[in-house]
Amino acid sequence: MSEYKIVAKVEDLKSGEGKSVEVNGENIALFKIGEEFFAVGNTCPHRGGPLGEGYLNSDVVSCPWHGWQFNVKTGEAVSGPAKIKTYPVKVEGDEVKILIG
Ligand code: FES
Repeated sequence: MSEYKIVAKVEDLKSGEGKSVEVNGENIALFKIGEEFFAVGNTCPHRGGPLGEGYLNSDVVSCPWHGWQFNVKTGEAVSGPAKIKTYPVKVEGDEVKILIG
């Protein structure tokens, strides 16, 4: 059954930053844009680079390994052929939660 799991505190990230988190055995990249959070699969579909360690420019993350780019709001590829998974995110108090399971 899917449920929201706590993955970070609101203050853990500044706007424009990302981080890699693991929840229920899934690797997820969490990004903060303005006051909003977005979560996508952390494993780049090219060769497995950690997207949470990538460079975020507006709503596009560049993979730190070879530079494939993805929109972190939609999961759509900006460069590269493959889409990445997105996860619903909500903020409750100072906790950031991702729907997973
Ligand atoms: S592993 Fe991400 S671009 Fe190559």
